[in-house]
Formats: sequence, structure tokens, C-alpha cells
Amino acid sequence: MMASQIDSMNETFYQEVKAGLQSRQKKLPSKYFYDATGDQLFQQIMDLPEYYPSRCEREIFLHQTAALAQAIQADQGNFDLIELGAGDGSKTFHLLQFLCRQKYAFSYLPIDISGNILNELEGVFKQHLKGYTIHTIQGEYLNGLKKAASNADKRKVVLFLGANIGNFEPADALVFCRQVRRLLAPGDLFLVGFDLKKHPAVIKAAYDDQQGITRLFNLNLLNRMNADLGAGFSLDQFDHYCSYDPITGACKSYLVALADQEVSFPTYKIKLQAGESIWTEISQKYSLQEITVLAEYAGFKQLQVITDSKGWFANVIWSI
Ligand code: TRP
Repeated sequence: MMASQIDSMNETFYQEVKAGLQSRQKKLPSKYFYDATGDQLFQQIMDLPEYYPSRCEREIFLHQTAALAQAIQADQGNFDLIELGAGDGSKTFHLLQFLCRQKYAFSYLPIDISGNILNELEGVFKQHLKGYTIHTIQGEYLNGLKKAASNADKRKVVLFLGANIGNFEPADALVFCRQVRRLLAPGDLFLVGFDLKKHPAVIKAAYDDQQGITRLFNLNLLNRMNADLGAGFSLDQFDHYCSYDPITGACKSYLVALADQEVSFPTYKIKLQAGESIWTEISQKYSLQEITVLAEYAGFKQLQVITDSKGWFANVIWSI
């Protein structure tokens, strides 16, 4: 593939990958995991026995739906329910169904980086939530939120589920929460899902499953760079590795080079040594106290904390 054949959609991808792979500690932006194959593999991850976060949050959305509806003040009149990184929206679906049955008025605006998953979501939701407005927005979190907020005169309830906040390093999570806050007005709410600190072995297993689906998911990023950016990665030259530090709460995934190698891109090459790692993802785990501090530093007031029966996951509701 020639450099000129990389279309403008992939131009940012190309530049971000280049910057990441040319930095001293090689890293790749995790948002690029989610192409059609990545979406499918992540769905499989969510069904893994070891991957507890989605199940814990689903339990909250299934069994504490009324508490959630009350927490977002659904009875206070028409509102926009905006979801950052909605994915297939399957957890949110339980809440929306409940809101429909209670005849609460709202519009649903899911934002996701993957146009593919938004199409799936739209199909399912339009079928089941007749009479309600669904407006999908393809893009990144903040740009999507700006778009969603630009023509809104209604109260906003912003959902940020799936412990996606954990995919920011803690300092960046704070910056992000402040940016979200600036896009909200008095009366608006921010509902965030956090994966909580727990036995380190439980966390480690969730990111290093027996069947090797997480490995395939991580390696798919190499496949995607080969297909979309004309890169020359050999997948059999890499392995998946994950580490968890119970003190800092940082769970990190890496792609480890199994041999010395040179990988070519249309306009540059990178060298990797055997045993060298490319950092691909952080999944930060929080204590309840750390969440309270984050809310406070970001300028939010924590209204409510809802946890699952195991106490492994928390959905918190913040106001500005
Ligand atoms: N970002 C999600 C998480 O932190 C998705 C994920 C699960 C993931 N397993 C992974 C990302 C392994 C990279 C590598 O839970």
C-alpha cells in the first residue's frame, strides 16, 4: 500500500500510530481495537467466564433499574440520554425499556467510535422502543458530546458505562471529567461506571482468559494496522501480556515482540527487540474513596453510588 492510498479517515489513525510507535515507550491508542472484528471479539470477551465487569454492571441495570431511573431523576420531565461509547447498548437497553414502561419522555443519543456497532444498536432499539427518538452519533466522546449538546434545550443525562473511564490513566480521567463537566449545565447529570479494586487474581484473570480471546482481541490491532495502514506485522511474532498492580489499580495490556524484528509502514519502519512490549491498554481499577476524590477534583457533586451484589462494580451519579 502506498502512503497516498491511505484515505483521510485513516490519516489520523496513521499519524497516531506513528507517534505511538516512535515514542520511547511504544504504545498504541486503544480506541482502534474496535473495527468489525474487534467489536465481535469484544462481544466474546464480555461473555467469558473470567470477564466479570460487564456482568456486574448488567446486574445493576437489570436488578436496580428503578434505583437508576430515580437517580437520573427520570420523573423530572423530558430529557436527553446521551451515552459515551455506547457499544451495543445492551445494558442501557434495560434502563430504556423501564423508562418506556413508566412513560417517561426522553431521547436516546448513543455515541460510539464504531459506526458498525451503532448500526446494530439502532436496528435493535428501533424495533423495541417504538415511538422514542434515537439519534446515533459516530465519533469520539467529547466531539460526540458537543454535537449532542449543541441542539439540546432539554436536560442532559450523560452515561459513561462499561468502566470505559478506566481506559484513561487516572490523571487523564480527571482532565476528561472536567471537560465533560464544562459541557454540562446546572441540572444535568453524569452517570459513570467504575470497576472497583478487588482480589488481584480476579482482575488478572479477566484480562488474560483461558480461551485466549483477549489475546486475539489484542493481536487484532496488528491485523487492523496491516489492513488499514499497510503495515507489515507478522502476528505470530507477538504475544498478549497483562499486568495488574493492586496498589495503583492499573491493569495494563501489552503486545510483546517474540523476536528481534523490523516492521514496515508505507513511510517509515520501526524496530522491535525480542521481549520488547507495546503498551495497548490501561483498565484502571478504583476504590470507592478514589471515586469520591475524582468527583470532587473534577467539580462534581456525588449524588449516589450503586454497586452490584458482589461489590465489584459501581455506577455513580454526579451533578455539576
Ligand atoms: N477496555 C475494556 C476494558 O478495559 C476492554 C478490554 C477487555 C481490553 N480486555 C482487554 C482491552 C484487553 C485491551 C486488552 O475492560
